[in-house]
Amino acid sequence: MALVSVAEMLKDADREGYAVGAFNTNNMEIAQAIVEAAEAERSPVIMQASQGAIAYAGLEYITSMALLAASKATVPVALNLDHGTSFAQVVQCIRSGFSAVMYDGSKLSLEENIAMTRKVLEIARPVGVSVEAELGKIGGTEDDITVSEKDALFTDPDEAAVFVRETGIDCLAIAIGTAHGQYKGEPKLDFERLKKIRALTQIPIVLHGSSGVPDEAVQEAIRLGIRKVNIDTNIREAFVWAMRRELEKNPNEIDPRKILGPARSDTVETIREKMRVFGSSGRIK
Ligand code: G3H
Ligand code: 13P
Ligand code: ZN
Repeated sequence: MALVSVAEMLKDADREGYAVGAFNTNNMEIAQAIVEAAEAERSPVIMQASQGAIAYAGLEYITSMALLAASKATVPVALNLDHGTSFAQVVQCIRSGFSAVMYDGSKLSLEENIAMTRKVLEIARPVGVSVEAELGKIGGTEDDITVSEKDALFTDPDEAAVFVRETGIDCLAIAIGTAHGQYKGEPKLDFERLKKIRALTQIPIVLHGSSGVPDEAVQEAIRLGIRKVNIDTNIREAFVWAMRRELEKNPNEIDPRKILGPARSDTVETIREKMRVFGSSGRIK
């Protein structure tokens, strides 16, 4: 199967009311785990590469792994650029074979974000590559957000309406209380804000920083219009904890396959559990 765009994938999710998991990859084992989990769950899946992943593995390796995985897969696979901030890199990813890109102009003013996102859409849409954009500041778990800061950092529903109308993006990443990385306490999601954003935009909404968000909260967010759920930290945990366990069991092991193999298996299990929570399991016959 060829890679499918995220927009194409989210059409069914939107119709049926579930979300597709977007899992970050950095190496061969994680890429394989993502597709193995999708096959086992009969679920569509989005593989994505961050700035860090591209710097680490190289764009060609990431694209080749995803294209190979998709060509062998019997479920739909998308390859998305995660938090792209440079127009040049967006062009490189599209040329390399990505089926979707995220342009993250959340640090720009609304006007600049609209202008840059439009520029990305202008080159992506004619070649069937879908575009996700971000409004509001998602931040990291190290950033303590006070109640007064909330309005400044979280996505403003009226701005979201303007942004979607002015750009015509395929899906929108929003800030409603999640953060990238490991949480110190339990994240509190602003469901009212999500409800308003979805009502005013009517497009699939994307939840970033979803690792560590309780399953019930993720499911409530999906009920309110989240259609793509980004997971990276939980994959890192599954992978590295398994490696650590194997090394502790056998400190003299020098065969990388004996350490990375179990790490890959544990990652498959983590991703399968997520797919069941998101409701994407069993959607592909
Ligand atoms: O969006 C957040 C991802 O976890 C990116 O992290 O650039 O270290 O791969 P990374
Ligand atoms: P987590 O690492 O918190 O799961 O966030 C992933 C993400 O949002 C990637 O864009
Ligand atoms: Zn993110």
